[in-house]
Amino acid sequence: MDKIVIEGGVELSGEVTISGAKNAALPIMAATLLAPGVHYLHHVPRLADIRTFRKVLGLMGVQFEEAGLDGPLVVDTSRLTGWMAPYEVVKTMRAAVLVLGPLVARARQATVSLPGGCAIGARPIDQHLKGLEALGVKITLNQGYVEAKARRLHGAEITLDVPTVTGTENLMMAATLAEGTTIIHNAALEPEVADLARFLTALGAKIEGIGTETITIHGVNALRPTAYHIMSDRIEAGTYLAAAAITGGRVTINNAPVAQMSAVLEKFHEAGVRFSATDHTIRVEPGDALTGVDVKTLPYPGFPTDMQAQFMALMTLAQGASVITETIFENRFMHVPELNRLGADISVSGNHAVVRGRRHLLGAPVMATDLRASASLVIAGLAAKNTTEIHRVYHLDRGYAHLVEKLTALGARIRRVPA
Ligand code: EPU
Repeated sequence: MDKIVIEGGVELSGEVTISGAKNAALPIMAATLLAPGVHYLHHVPRLADIRTFRKVLGLMGVQFEEAGLDGPLVVDTSRLTGWMAPYEVVKTMRAAVLVLGPLVARARQATVSLPGGCAIGARPIDQHLKGLEALGVKITLNQGYVEAKARRLHGAEITLDVPTVTGTENLMMAATLAEGTTIIHNAALEPEVADLARFLTALGAKIEGIGTETITIHGVNALRPTAYHIMSDRIEAGTYLAAAAITGGRVTINNAPVAQMSAVLEKFHEAGVRFSATDHTIRVEPGDALTGVDVKTLPYPGFPTDMQAQFMALMTLAQGASVITETIFENRFMHVPELNRLGADISVSGNHAVVRGRRHLLGAPVMATDLRASASLVIAGLAAKNTTEIHRVYHLDRGYAHLVEKLTALGARIRRVPA
């Protein structure tokens, strides 16, 4: 298993270009199942999670072609030969549950493993199942698998107990081919949900209220394949913003979805990070000392849980204290003991972490525990004195395209070596 080795203390400088959003690409790949034929997906990030999802869809008979590194991912969903997402895959990548809605809508059946818990929390899928049942899907649980069957899906009014992102996506996809109208109340507002809705619209789906908490879907008989450009990754952009800021660097972040990053940009501004932002570009400049600010994660448009760990890394070197409150996932502070190994002063009580800013961090061997936790260790390692070694880098591979290459281009002394 590889490790990442960072010699910290270099001010990053130069330009970095943000890739397509993982959490938009995954549901959009799932949605290709709804429309038999050949789809052209542009701006799909080259990541381990995408490769895993290709394998899942491959089990269903979907075929892929890649037209070079920058070319579109060509997805052929003409023939479906399977409808099962096995435990071995779903346990490593929960997003595989996204096949449930589209499969049952197109093939009238799907068997998908229950995801179980993961490093950041219990993460049930009860809302996905409740919504599908309302659409006329018969759900049975058998030996850890969800077996879904339906004759024809019919429209329904569904109120989600929590605005779940993949839950909203699963239901929206299923409803596109249902008979009649579906209304989803308390839908997730995340921009990736809206990107999926735009893709579905391009397939011929009839959707109103895109980007709002009430989404109305008028079912149609069939959808047709399309070409689509996936939105940029707001979390990747925020991660590079934190990396630039913690090193006091001068970095231009290109292709960033600035309009979808307001809560994040506001917090960086409040913390004293100096930057300017236009439509798709963020320019970070060296500024004065950082100030500790409080942050609470919330569903969009609030501060994203997927940026919590990276922002915490930044706060370890701010002046004063900051209180970071996690309200989305109950166990998303696994990075805290690892950041403390680098000399940070963070204590956790319940879902609050109190970060007392230090003058410097000191390199050490640390262990990645989940995707965003790993990103926070990279950010801290870039600022820490001496050498930081990050083990279990497969977590980073899941969600950051060409991380080592992009940071190297910004001048970071970072390399990947076999452990
Ligand atoms: N929840 C339920 N019941 C459900 C579904 C969710 O109680 O049926 C709860 C969860 O336990 C959690 C909250 O609702 O407390 C929100 O979870 P949500 O379902 O919105 O999360 P998700 O759809 O599983 C997506 C992203 C995550 C991101 C969250 C929150 C994808 C593929 N994943 O997960 O991304 O953290 O939304 O924004 O879109 C990541 O990229 O690192 C990542 C974990």
